[in-house]
Amino acid sequence: MADLINEYSMHTATCGQLCAADDGREVTLTGWAWHNRDHGGLIFIDLRDRHGYTQVVVDPDCVSADDFAKAEHVGREDVLKVSGCVRLRAEDAVNPDMATGQIEVLASSIQVLNKSVTPPFAIEDGIETDETTRMKWRYLDLRRPEMHANIKLRHTVMQAMRRALDERGFLEVETPILANSTPEGARDYIVPSRPNPGKFYALPQSPQQFKQMLMAGGIERYFQIARCFRDEDLRADRQPEFTQVDIEMSFVTEDDVITMMEDVLHEVFSAVGLDLTVPLRRMPYTEAMASYGCDRPDVRFGMLLHDITDIVRDTGFKVFASVAQSGGVVKAINAKGAGDWSRGDVEKLASIAEANGAKGMAWVAFTTGGEEKSPIKKFFTDDEWAALKAEIEVEPGDLLLFAADEPAVANAVLSALRLHMADALGLIPEGEHALLWVVDFPMFKYDEDEKKYAAEHHPFSKVADEDLGLMETDPLSCGSYAYDIVMDGYEVGGGSIRIHDPEEQRRVLRVLGLSDEDIDDKFGHLIQALSLGTPPHGGIALGLDRLVMLLAGKDSIRDVIAFPKTSSAADPMTGAPSEVTARQLKEVDLRLM
Ligand code: AMO
Ligand code: AMP
Repeated sequence: MADLINEYSMHTATCGQLCAADDGREVTLTGWAWHNRDHGGLIFIDLRDRHGYTQVVVDPDCVSADDFAKAEHVGREDVLKVSGCVRLRAEDAVNPDMATGQIEVLASSIQVLNKSVTPPFAIEDGIETDETTRMKWRYLDLRRPEMHANIKLRHTVMQAMRRALDERGFLEVETPILANSTPEGARDYIVPSRPNPGKFYALPQSPQQFKQMLMAGGIERYFQIARCFRDEDLRADRQPEFTQVDIEMSFVTEDDVITMMEDVLHEVFSAVGLDLTVPLRRMPYTEAMASYGCDRPDVRFGMLLHDITDIVRDTGFKVFASVAQSGGVVKAINAKGAGDWSRGDVEKLASIAEANGAKGMAWVAFTTGGEEKSPIKKFFTDDEWAALKAEIEVEPGDLLLFAADEPAVANAVLSALRLHMADALGLIPEGEHALLWVVDFPMFKYDEDEKKYAAEHHPFSKVADEDLGLMETDPLSCGSYAYDIVMDGYEVGGGSIRIHDPEEQRRVLRVLGLSDEDIDDKFGHLIQALSLGTPPHGGIALGLDRLVMLLAGKDSIRDVIAFPKTSSAADPMTGAPSEVTARQLKEVDLRLM
C-alpha cells in the first residue's frame, strides 16, 4: 500500500511517511506550504499533504540562489514540489508528537507548482471560523487534518461495509434517482419532466420500494450505498440529501436481519479499531418510552424516568392530582449530584421543559447537607412524601425534576432534561459507545395535525401476526416487525420485515386513509408484485452519516459529509439552489407565481 501511494505521482514519498529509517534517502515531496519560519538564514517550511506534514529545511548553501529566493517568498497554501535528502533532526529538535518528527528533509530543489492568495481562514484544526465561511470555501476546510481524518474514516467504514456485505452474498445494485414518491414521512424533492409536461419525478426519500422490487426480482440479498433526499426541517443530524447503507434480504425473519446487521457492524467497528460486543441488547419500544421517554435511548448512563402517577393521584398538589386523574402521567427523573444546585440554576431548567411542551417544572432538591428544598413539598402528606422518596430511592445530593402531562409530552420533557442533566453532570463517558435495538414498534400512530392514522415506520412493514385482526378496529394497538438500531442516543438505522401478502398491504394502506383507487394509482406496481410470487423479505437502512459522525466523535453530520448543506438547505460554495432562466422554465412547462 505504502508503495502504491507513491506510484503515478510527482512525489516519491508522502508528507506523512518518512522516519528515522529513511535517513539519507533522496526524496521528492509535494504538498501545501503550511507554516514557514526564517531562522538565522535557514528557512523551515512545514509541507502538508493528506498523509501528514514534513519539515523541509532550505539552506542557502544547498540550493540555487533562485530556489532560495523562491523559498523566501513561499506563502501559506502555496503548492510546492521539493526534492532533497532525508536527515535525522538534532536531538533537541525531535518532535515525538509528530509522525515525521524524527526527521527533516534538506531541500536541494524547490518548485512552486501554484501560488495561493491569502486564504480566508487558517488551515488549522480547532479553528473558530463560522460554519458558513467554512462551507463557502469548503475545499480549504477539507484541507484541515481533522476533516481529512473524518473523510478517511467515512471511506474506511464504507469499504468495510461493502466487504462485509459482499462476503455474505449481498449484491450491490443501483436504483433510480428520478423516481416516484415513496412515503418516509418527509416532503419530496420534485423534478419536472420535460417530455411529460405537467409531470414530475420525486427524488427518492429512500430506495424502499425499489429494494422490495429487487426481492420480487429474485435478487435475494441487496445492498446499496444510497443517496436519499428528504425535504424536512434540518438539524445537526439531518441533511436534505444523506446516505443510507440500504439492505434487503429474502426468506428471512426479524432475527436474521438483526443478526446479519450485528455481524456486519462488528466487522465495520473492528475496521476502525473498535470492539463491538454482539449480540446487542434488544429493548421493546414500550420500555424505551417508559424508562427513557424516547425511542432512541442513550443508555450510556442511567437516570431513568420514574412513573409516580399512582402515588400522587390524590395529592394536595392540584397540578399533579388533576393530571393523574384525567388520564395523564406524572413522571420524574433523579439527577444525582445536582442536589446542591442553586434555586436559580434549577429554575433555569424550566426553559428546557417548556421548549418541549411542559406547562411547568416542579422540582425537589435533597442537599448533601440533608435539607429538602422544594416549592411543592408543602402540598404533600407525610405518607405521600415518604412513598415518593421510596419509589425514587432518593439520597442526599439528588435533584428530582417532574413532568405532569399527557404521556407524550411528559416523556419528551423528561427525555430532554435527562440528556441535558447528563451533559451538565458529565455522566456521558467520553469515547464510549452504546448500541442497542429498539424492537416491537407499534404499526400505526395518530397524526393530530392531519387527523388520520400514519405508519409509525412506513406502510410496508408487516403487522404483528397476533394483531392482524385489530387493524380496522383498533389500529393503535397493532404491533409490527419493525426495529431501530440506536447508538449513543441517535437513531442510526431502522428496518422491518415487510408485508408480502397483497391483501394485507391493501388493508394497511386503507387504514392510512387511502381509497382503493389511490392504492392502485400509487402502489399498484407493489401490490401486483406481491401477487406475483414475492418472497417473504425484510431489511434495514443505516444512516451512514450519523454512524460516521458518532465514530468520529462529532456532533454534526456536516463534519463527515464532504459538501454538506446549511440549515436552509443551501450550498454557499456553489450557490445552490439558484434561479433558472425563463427558457428553462418554459421547456418544462412551468411558470413562477
Ligand atoms: P428511515 O427513514 O428510518 O428508514 O431511515 C433510515 C436511517 O437513515 C437516517 N436518516 C437520515 N440521516 C441524515 N439525514 C436525514 N434527513 C435522515 N433521515 C433518515 C437515520 C435513519 O435511521 N426505507 C427505510 C429503511 C427500511 O425500512 O429498510 C428508511 O428509510 O439514521
Ligand atoms: P404552581 O402551583 O402552578 O405555581 O406550580 C408549582 C410548581 O409546579 C412550579 O414549580 C411549577 O413549575 C410546577 N408545575 C406546574 N405545572 C407543572 C406540570 N404540568 N408538570 C410539572 N411541574 C409543573
